[in-house]
Amino acid sequence: MRVSVFGLGYVGCVSAACLAGMGHEVIGVDVNQVKVDLVNDGKAPVVEERIGELIAEVVETGALRATGDVREAIMGSEVSLVCVGTPSEPNGSLCTTYLERVTEQIGAALADRGGLGGLGGLGGRHTVVFRSTMLPGTALNLLVPILEKYVGGTAGVDFGVAVNPEFLREGTSVRDFFDPPKTVVGELDPASGDVMTALYDGLPGEVFRVPVATAEAIKYADNAFHGLKIGFANELGAVCQALGVDSHQVMDVFLADRKLNISPAYLRPGFAFGGSCLPKDLRSLVHAAQRADVSVPILAHVLPSNSAHLERAVELVERTGKRRVGMFGLSFKPGTDDLRESPLVELAERLFGKGYDLRIHDANVSLSRLLGANREYVETRLPHLAQLLAESVEEVLEHAEVCLVGTRDPAVLSALPHGDGPTIVDLIHLPDAEARRAEPGYVGLAW
Ligand SMILES: NC(=O)c1ccc[n+]([C@@H]2O[C@H](COP(=O)([O-])OP(=O)(O)OC[C@H]3O[C@@H](n4cnc5c(N)ncnc54)[C@H](O)[C@@H]3O)[C@@H](O)[C@H]2O)c1
Repeated sequence: MRVSVFGLGYVGCVSAACLAGMGHEVIGVDVNQVKVDLVNDGKAPVVEERIGELIAEVVETGALRATGDVREAIMGSEVSLVCVGTPSEPNGSLCTTYLERVTEQIGAALADRGGLGGLGGLGGRHTVVFRSTMLPGTALNLLVPILEKYVGGTAGVDFGVAVNPEFLREGTSVRDFFDPPKTVVGELDPASGDVMTALYDGLPGEVFRVPVATAEAIKYADNAFHGLKIGFANELGAVCQALGVDSHQVMDVFLADRKLNISPAYLRPGFAFGGSCLPKDLRSLVHAAQRADVSVPILAHVLPSNSAHLERAVELVERTGKRRVGMFGLSFKPGTDDLRESPLVELAERLFGKGYDLRIHDANVSLSRLLGANREYVETRLPHLAQLLAESVEEVLEHAEVCLVGTRDPAVLSALPHGDGPTIVDLIHLPDAEARRAEPGYVGLAW
């Protein structure tokens, strides 16, 4: 394919050289003439393992050249990859200035290229692929309107648009390009996605074709998680050190657990956590760190983060403006009657305290069956629980104008009405959440 790459920084330079190495015909574009000249001289404008040799090779064969002229690049290509920088503004917001400018330039050049439908490429049209990291909504709300204005046509019809976030790590980016962890194709329409997948044809790794905003968000999910992982490991290391424990030995064993630690466990958006262990153990670990004068802001904010999530559930109920509330689920997780530090008990208590008329059903919890610590917990934390507990699902449904669903109990799921009936506040991402999202009277805490 004939490809133009806008921005010859770390991402653009590596993408351009590697795509040329795969056999594509590539033109790199940059506003910085020094970078353009370096590439045309067969030299890398960035320091990266293997990039120098690769650029020398592909420039020599004619597979890669560079220019400062946007029109020249657009005329000679069927796909444009946008790799300009998206730095932070001083207030932390995302700077989209370079993206906007290059999009205007590409749009104007595409318009000059003449007649819609005559824009070249697969299916006779040009595809603009955004590779820069940008917040969800940037492509569709900001950049596509710019392209449509300048081109004078419709995105997804007259020209293609895709988002293809990049997952290379500086230092090993050439290696990562040829062995990516995954390829994410955010496609405005299937034809735009087809162009993208054709471009990377032959590379290993799973390809995910998703809506444009999902592709934008995936990059943030990845980077936020990577930062969180490093912060977590460092904080844990600091606490261990202060407590005289070998943190590397701790992490060796931690990492060997592929069921609960290095696994998909606990990584689905849902409701707040609770129970007799996590809150208590986080509190005592943070307390021990503080006693040892070790600052652990991530660990110290896990419980406040959990409370904020619980607060979101209260707000969802408040926003309905309704007073008669039903709640399905009360124990801290399915399959147990343990109510100690259950976030659903906390939620019930908050709603009860705010004067909501509440009925609760949890098949595992009935006062007559509660014993020992559980019974004592209920009596001290939620003394009015007895009068709120309903023996059947139907009793709650008959009472409620709003139903909070915090359980996957099949008896509850099959009884939940669709459309008419109480507003459903889904705390756990119900199995039929996708279908329900289109229904009036459904709100989800974790879509
Ligand atoms: N660096 C990384 O490892 C990495 C990894 C993944 C994603 N990203 C993302 O990729 C994007 C690019 O990052 P980078 O590190 O390569 O940035 P960079 O600053 O190294 O390079 C950006 C290049 O774009 C050029 N440019 C700016 N406006 C232009 C225009 N109108 N036309 C042509 N060229 C123009 C600049 O001169 C510069 O050479 C960012 O959104 C970044 O967040 C970077």
